[in-house]
Amino acid sequence: MAKKPYIIVTASPKGGVGKTVVSINVATALRTSGYDVLLIDTDVANPSVGLLLGSGIEGPGYQEVLLGKANLKDVLILYPLSGFYYLNAGGDGNEIAATTEQVSKFYAEISKTDFDFIIVDTPPGAKIEPAMKLFNEALIVTTPEETAVKGAQRLSSFYLKYHLLHKLVINRVKEAKFDMTEEMIEKLYGDVAYALVPEEKTVAESESRHMPAYLINRTSLFSISIDDLCRSYLLMIGAQVDQPSQKGGWGIKRFFTKK
Ligand SMILES: Nc1ncnc2c1ncn2[C@@H]1O[C@H](COP(=O)(O)OP(=O)(O)O)[C@@H](O)[C@H]1O
Ligand SMILES: [Mg+2]
Repeated sequence: MAKKPYIIVTASPKGGVGKTVVSINVATALRTSGYDVLLIDTDVANPSVGLLLGSGIEGPGYQEVLLGKANLKDVLILYPLSGFYYLNAGGDGNEIAATTEQVSKFYAEISKTDFDFIIVDTPPGAKIEPAMKLFNEALIVTTPEETAVKGAQRLSSFYLKYHLLHKLVINRVKEAKFDMTEEMIEKLYGDVAYALVPEEKTVAESESRHMPAYLINRTSLFSISIDDLCRSYLLMIGAQVDQPSQKGGWGIKRFFTKK
C-alpha cells in the first residue's frame, strides 16, 4: 500500500506571528532527519516562502494548480541547500477565489503524492474547511500577545469542531516585561502550549542569506525548539526518534519556565 503524506497545516488568525518562519524551519528540520518534505505557500496575497528561500515568488504555483492551470509536479521547486521541495503561492499577487471543489481536489491530489510530510503555510485567518479531513494536524502559531492568543483560542475551537489535532506554539518568546507569561497564555488559550520558540537573531540573518535559521545554527535554542516540535511529528508517523536533548528535550518549555 502506498504511504500517505503526513499533512500539517500552519495557521493563525493574526498575521506576522511567525507562521512562515516556523513552517520553513520545520520543513528544513524534517528534511535534515531524512524525510521527503513539501512546503506549500498558500498565501497568494503576501507570498514569502520563495523570497526567503531565494528563488523569488514569480511564476506559477499553488494558485495555478488550484485553478487547474498547472500541474503540481511541473511547478515544484527544490531548495538545494536542504533538499526539500516547495510550491510558491503563484497568482502574481492576485488571489482568485477557488471553489470548494477546487480546494478539495487540490488537497486530495497532494495527499496522493509520495512525500513523507507536507507543510501547508497559510495566510492569516485561513481555515480551509474543505480540506479538514485531509489534514493530519494543525500547528497554531501565536506570539506572547493577547490579540494573537485570543485568535489562537478561537482557531483551536474551530479545529475541535472538526476533530483536528492541533498544537499551539508560542513564537518570539523573549520574556520581555510586557509579554504575557506562558501561564497567562495557556489560561487564555485553554490548553497547554506545545512548544516555545525563542526570539532568534539568526532569523533576520536568515532572511538576507535566503537560508533557514535552522541551517545557520543547528544548536541554537531556536533550532532545538524546532527539533522538539519535529520529534512529535516523527512520532506521529511511527518513526524512531532520538532521546530528547539534554538542554530541554520536549522541554524547551521547561527551559523557559524554570527561570
Ligand atoms: N522566532 C523568531 N525570532 C525572530 N524573528 C522572528 C521569529 N519568528 C518570526 N520572526 C520575524 O517576524 C516576522 C513575521 O514572521 P512571518 O513568519 O512572516 O509571520 P507570518 O507568516 O505569521 O505572517 C518576520 O520578519 C520574521 O523574520
Ligand atoms: Mg506567512
